[in-house]
Amino acid sequence: MKSTIPAPTSQLRNLLPPFSPAAVSFSFRGKTIKPSFPSTSSLKTTSFRYAPLRVTANSQSTAATAGTAKVAAVPSEMKAWVYGEYGSVDVLKFDEKVAVPEVKEDQVLIKVIAAALNPVDAKRRQGKFKATDSPLPTVPGYDVAGVVVKVGSQVKELKEGDEVYGNINEKALEGPKQFGSFAEYTAVEEKLLALKPKNIDFVQAAGLPLAIETAYEGLERTGFSEGKSILVLNGAGGVGSLVIQLAKHVFGASKVAATASTGKLEFVKSLGAELAIDYTKENFEDLPEKFDVVYDAIGQCDRAVKAVKEGGSVVALTGAVTPPGFRFVVTSNGEVLKKLNPYLESGKVKPVVDPKGPFPFSQVAEAFSYIETNHATGKVVIHPIP
Ligand SMILES: NC(=O)c1ccc[n+]([C@@H]2O[C@H](COP(=O)([O-])OP(=O)(O)OC[C@H]3O[C@@H](n4cnc5c(N)ncnc54)[C@H](OP(=O)(O)O)[C@@H]3O)[C@@H](O)[C@H]2O)c1
Repeated sequence: MKSTIPAPTSQLRNLLPPFSPAAVSFSFRGKTIKPSFPSTSSLKTTSFRYAPLRVTANSQSTAATAGTAKVAAVPSEMKAWVYGEYGSVDVLKFDEKVAVPEVKEDQVLIKVIAAALNPVDAKRRQGKFKATDSPLPTVPGYDVAGVVVKVGSQVKELKEGDEVYGNINEKALEGPKQFGSFAEYTAVEEKLLALKPKNIDFVQAAGLPLAIETAYEGLERTGFSEGKSILVLNGAGGVGSLVIQLAKHVFGASKVAATASTGKLEFVKSLGAELAIDYTKENFEDLPEKFDVVYDAIGQCDRAVKAVKEGGSVVALTGAVTPPGFRFVVTSNGEVLKKLNPYLESGKVKPVVDPKGPFPFSQVAEAFSYIETNHATGKVVIHPIP
């Protein structure tokens, strides 16, 4: 990483005019550097935002198709977002000269077309996992969708030109990769990837891996099965919006209930929840109805255990755990994505992209600030990436 160009501070950003790729340039050591961005027309993404839920078949935009990436030569350096110390959003820097990662024998190199944020990216940047993190400096980013441009010698199935998606870190908190997906290229083990379903575009695909793997693993760990009822706490978030859909449309739940704020009640119903509980007005644990499983994706395990039937299961993704609740940390697994691909292809399960996004690559810091409000709906996606 030879040069580091500071990102604008949040105060400065408020003074800036709306983002215009043509107007972007950075001054560095007396030189003006103009990054190349795809045309602004490629940013028209309304068709796959969550509100209309027109997110499945044939919504591939030109912006999010790979095209030329398949044949482009791989450079030795790339643009990436980097932080060299833990801290607030202000530690994030845009760097034009990060070395493109080497590909190990079981890995492929991906030209990143879209990447997505998860709360873990923010918590990791804040230093919450520093004891088990990879060394700084860090290129953040777990979720990726893109095109394979190089394959390692032991790679068995994937080949150059394949359109893939996945969560690049097998263990979310134990030594996640130093070079993540908020970059032009990222190197990933073949076993963590799956071919992107043809009917969804790269933006939609990027938002899926970590959240859908978490949703699926949590349901499996509770022994969830057809005919069982479930209450999802935080049904509108990245994970919860997929827990609702998987419970209803993949596992065959008898009843799905979910908590959300007033404005998102109809949204969680549209995903498959029969009962939407307004967390700003009601305490879910005071309702007479109890559930076979409570899936806590917000950190309310002490209350969640009061809403479960005797002998039922409570899974908690974050916060303190109250027995009989339990916690797990997601394991990335391409096989889970492959297993769920038919449900995505049939449109039974729909990717949900937050309507404020996708955020262009120049606005990764803004995307972090947004997810850190804890009010994102579905997934916060980064696209286009130069
Ligand atoms: N253990 C693991 O392996 C694992 C894996 C993935 C995620 N996680 C953790 O799980 C949590 C959820 O992740 P995520 O990606 O789904 O988060 P997210 O998408 O950032 O969640 C944002 C959503 O939370 C909702 N929300 C805020 N307060 C709420 C409340 N009191 N009750 C119900 N909903 C509320 C917001 O709705 P409003 O705007 O309406 O408030 C918003 O839609 C995070 O803490 C994350 O770190 C853990």
